[in-house]
Amino acid sequence: MKNLNLFALLANRISPVIGLTLTVCYLFLGLSVNLQAAEQSTYTAKFNAAGEMIRPEGWREWVFVGSPLTPNSLNGGAAPFPEFHSVYLDPESWAHYKKTGKFREGTMFAKELSLVGATAASSGIGFFNGKMQGFEIAHKDTKRYPKDTGGWAYYSFGHHDEPYSDTAAAFPAAACASCHTASAAEDMVFTQYYPILNAAKGAGKAGAGLGGKE
Ligand code: HEC
Repeated sequence: MKNLNLFALLANRISPVIGLTLTVCYLFLGLSVNLQAAEQSTYTAKFNAAGEMIRPEGWREWVFVGSPLTPNSLNGGAAPFPEFHSVYLDPESWAHYKKTGKFREGTMFAKELSLVGATAASSGIGFFNGKMQGFEIAHKDTKRYPKDTGGWAYYSFGHHDEPYSDTAAAFPAAACASCHTASAAEDMVFTQYYPILNAAKGAGKAGAGLGGKE
């Protein structure tokens, strides 16, 4: 009886500690799984059962590589894409490009369009970003996509302001890939218009920009 009482007393004392430890472990594990999921969803393309790409999360936190502009006013009033094209590269592929000078399997470029807004500002006459006007992805996966698209696929999540579509089907080669095959400088990507990528190519740490000397 005495022994039993002692056991009960110990169990009472110990169980909150064990309980607390388990809770902390559980929370920690849960948190790290969640963090992993958040990171993964930023870098890895995801698809639904129909094979459509799910719009990736957080592309505005990817690495900004350029912002070409083809305004209507320089294209007889009717440019096919009269917007700023803000182009971002997912961070893992940026790191790989800095190291190797190549676009890895899984590379994703995001291109977010924004209309020309104001054409004059306190800095002068020019073109200033207006509203968002669409969102596209270029994705490299040489196993997933047919050879005639150069191992890349192109997706549009809408040519309009937000909200964009949640999912998008890949375009046939003739709609997008053919022009990239014909005119892009490097592995289907228009690196000739992205000086940030030219500076980073195989440059290691220096690709991120060098600090000044004392
Ligand atoms: C007539 C040629 C042409 C066609 C067709 C075309 N693109 Fe592009 N694309 C370009 C050019 C030029 C750039 C680089 C500069 C820019 O954005 O204007 C580019 C850049 C891109 C980029 C950024 C990464 C990169 O490769 O430089 C994405 C993403 C993209 N295009 C998606 C698409 C999608 C989606 C389609 C089909 C709906 C498409 N493109 C069709 C010419 C084309």
